[in-house]
Amino acid sequence: MPFELIRDDITRVRADAIVNAANPSLLGGGGVDGAIHRAAGPELKEACRAIGGCKTGEAVITPGFRLPCRYVIHTVGPVYQDGRHGEKELLASCYRNALLLAEAHGCESVAFPLISAGVYGYPGEEAAQVARDTILDFLKTRDMTVFLVFYDSASFRVGRQMADGLMKSIQAYIDDAGTAPYDTERRLSGRNDIFNGLPLASQAPSYEDGAPRPASGRPIKSRQTRRYFAETVLAPDQPEEKAPYPAAPAAFRTDSAQDRAALDRYLQRQDAGFRDMLLRRIDEKGMTDAECYHCANLDRRVFNKIKNQPDYRPGKTTVLALCVGLRLTLDETRDMLDRAGYSLSSSSKADLIVEFFLRRGGSDIYTINEVLFAYDQKLLGSAAE
Ligand code: APR
Repeated sequence: MPFELIRDDITRVRADAIVNAANPSLLGGGGVDGAIHRAAGPELKEACRAIGGCKTGEAVITPGFRLPCRYVIHTVGPVYQDGRHGEKELLASCYRNALLLAEAHGCESVAFPLISAGVYGYPGEEAAQVARDTILDFLKTRDMTVFLVFYDSASFRVGRQMADGLMKSIQAYIDDAGTAPYDTERRLSGRNDIFNGLPLASQAPSYEDGAPRPASGRPIKSRQTRRYFAETVLAPDQPEEKAPYPAAPAAFRTDSAQDRAALDRYLQRQDAGFRDMLLRRIDEKGMTDAECYHCANLDRRVFNKIKNQPDYRPGKTTVLALCVGLRLTLDETRDMLDRAGYSLSSSSKADLIVEFFLRRGGSDIYTINEVLFAYDQKLLGSAAE
């Protein structure tokens, strides 16, 4: 279920458990270990002493004491030598064992630092890749929210390496849309490796269909919407009539049966709402509800609110997450946004990034979120909305 990248000090993250990158003695140290011990108070050291130690790749659990979390899970990452000493497997088992321990203690949310990526010398981008793969594998079958916390730019290496194909092409796409150039110094980067699996564009995509870009940012009703409208809302014998455009405002009399009938006829144009369309799309894709909210990186409770509370209005990032999870086309996504009262705006960097991926035939939500994160944008899907 939800996997989120956040930039923060892990001792401030509100999660049921936070994970500590400890050493085998468990008695504290520098880096994130030091920060966690300082924030938790001396009781944490006593609890760790009572446990007696932890082997590399394994995990143990203590209360959170003065931290805002219920638990601290301590795991010992491998010291990086050259990548040929089982470091990757050991690092993956840190994440897996910590997650299993969190699950066994009923945690619904867990926050991880980039284990081994500091004092223990694991290359940051490779460490992030192992974290991502292991966490996503675990979440395939679990209802849990996992945060991967990036503390400082050093942990994710600042930008020069970002001048690779993918980032360049996204930047070109954004620049092409006329938004202000991005301050590259502020970006965090996971170098190219973290974006593995993405086809690289040799050039920025263009508006290949030749359609004019909506100057107002207002969504253009898609063909699909129009077809749906024609088939389901308008009676077959009722030609679609243009809204009258009178030179002077025509009087509307509430006591006039004729005027009310005209208004009623007009209101028949109302499209199916977002919720109905969402359920229909899920059926069309042959997905279950659970598959849908998993692929959308969305909390089950948020999905259930959308499904069961007709008045609930999901946020735009939730709507976009569902569109990405359902692998909708750009037109279909615009249509869904429209039904929820939103649009894709060419003056929004986040919207352009999502649009970029949709134009390339979509992508999994985690990859899109990694790119949004690298560009300091709000991520899609979350436990919060
Ligand atoms: N919040 C989140 N992440 C943090 C924080 C923090 N407050 N402080 C540091 N980090 C990040 C670092 O930037 C790094 O990316 O945590 C990652 C792990 O770095 P380390 O804390 O150095 O952990 P690790 O590389 O696993 O080394 C473990 O360091 O001091 C110790 O006792 C510990 O000996 C053990 C070793």
